[in-house]
Amino acid sequence: MPDKKFKKNLLCIGAGYVGGPTMAMIAYKCPQYKITVVDVDKDKIAAWQTDQLPIYEPGLLDIVKTARDKNLFFSTNVDKGIKEADIIFISVNTPTKMFGEGAGKSADLQYWEKTARDILRVSESDKIIVERSTLPVKTAIAMERILSTGDKALNFEVISNPEFLAEGTAMKDLEKPDRVLIGSKETESGMKARNELVEIYANWIPRDRLITSNLMSSELSKLVANSFLAQRISSINSISALCEIVDANVTEVANAIGKDSRIGDKFLKASVGFGGSCFKKDILNLVYLCEQFGLYEVAAYWEYIVKMNDYQHTRFVQTITRAMFNTIAGKRIALLGFAFKANTSDTRESAAIYITQKLMAEKAKVVISDPKAIKNARKDLKDYGNDIEYQEDPYKAAKGAHAVAILTEWDLYKDLDYEKIYNDMEKPAFIFDGRNLLDHAKLFDIGYEVYPLGKPPLIHFKEV
Ligand SMILES: NC(=O)c1ccc[n+]([C@@H]2O[C@H](COP(=O)([O-])OP(=O)(O)OC[C@H]3O[C@@H](n4cnc5c(N)ncnc54)[C@H](O)[C@@H]3O)[C@@H](O)[C@H]2O)c1
Repeated sequence: MPDKKFKKNLLCIGAGYVGGPTMAMIAYKCPQYKITVVDVDKDKIAAWQTDQLPIYEPGLLDIVKTARDKNLFFSTNVDKGIKEADIIFISVNTPTKMFGEGAGKSADLQYWEKTARDILRVSESDKIIVERSTLPVKTAIAMERILSTGDKALNFEVISNPEFLAEGTAMKDLEKPDRVLIGSKETESGMKARNELVEIYANWIPRDRLITSNLMSSELSKLVANSFLAQRISSINSISALCEIVDANVTEVANAIGKDSRIGDKFLKASVGFGGSCFKKDILNLVYLCEQFGLYEVAAYWEYIVKMNDYQHTRFVQTITRAMFNTIAGKRIALLGFAFKANTSDTRESAAIYITQKLMAEKAKVVISDPKAIKNARKDLKDYGNDIEYQEDPYKAAKGAHAVAILTEWDLYKDLDYEKIYNDMEKPAFIFDGRNLLDHAKLFDIGYEVYPLGKPPLIHFKEV
């Protein structure tokens, strides 16, 4: 039975990086709503009930602890959750499909469709269904079609409310989002459902940041937002390659162009490449959509963003190999950072995965260090067994190494004792800064051969 103590019962299906943090924030800001988060993954739900949460996000644990067991509950009982809910948020994973038609590009909607069928099977009352997962355009229409096949005469209103949070700053993004987008049908029932959602968010988000649109615009906006963000990274990374050849400095170029208010200075940091579960997947999803509608030029344009990212991984490993006398076989290379960015334990699609694979193909002895992501790194690289070493302590990782490569911009790497590391390394000691995080002149003075990204290297011995 719905819990009448609360104004409404909200359910979230999927307790991952989106479902957990977003529902924790809603519970924290809206004590009048009862929030239940369900997942088929028993271990994940068990972890949400402890202080060892299944994901790391700064500030998340405090918020969970404030609301948990008051108006925030975690459960594996999906059916009960559905039955009791007035509003169902769906945050299940929508990875790239790896089989059949559209393999490697389109979204795999099997988890999504299963939730639709669960909702249809179990529901005994009208519900608003909120798409939180990132989905191809018109998925809401498909979902409504599935939900309308029942003979229970229930009304399901599907609305789109894509999540724009960035991992690592998720709690800040959820508390003060640039915008919340809510797309619905422009019918009476669609507008009513849209307003119910607006009412929830208006508890802490200013009205002018709650923007509304039709369903398709909302679904498409999420794919386009991620594609534009990734495009900025690939654009500056492409320029980093040129900078290295013409003795320009990519940080100076980024600064110079970023001061133009039409361009802006965000997302202009050259790096080893973007990662995370979303950028590549969402671009490929956009590419697939365009191809399906015969827009091949548009598809090719966006697909190149991904190709440029792959090229950046390849280029980074080429720089390492060429600098180290064209062979890294048997050389110990310490990778500092494995998470796809700082302040997260998430390693999905991390550049570090691809770089490790390429280093292993060159028969290097790879050691991986990361303050939060070792567990995930071990899973990602399980096929290599004991051939890869894991050391949470960066000093142990670098001990005896021929080279250190910075792959994640963790703050802690800025403050390491690089003299001590240098003394413990093989000589010449190489450092490849894939995030331009460190003080390169200082490292050079210590004695390192320094290879920043998108800047000329600082080397003691000159090639002849
Ligand atoms: N991670 C991000 O930063 C981010 C940001 C914005 C949007 N998104 C989108 O949000 C969606 C979820 O992403 P995520 O990173 O949270 O994924 P995730 O893999 O961390 O979490 C998804 C969860 O859904 C669960 N699940 C799958 N099918 C289920 C079912 N039928 N019933 C109950 N639980 C089920 C899985 O067990 C998993 O725990 C994706 O579409 C993603 O593109 C992610």
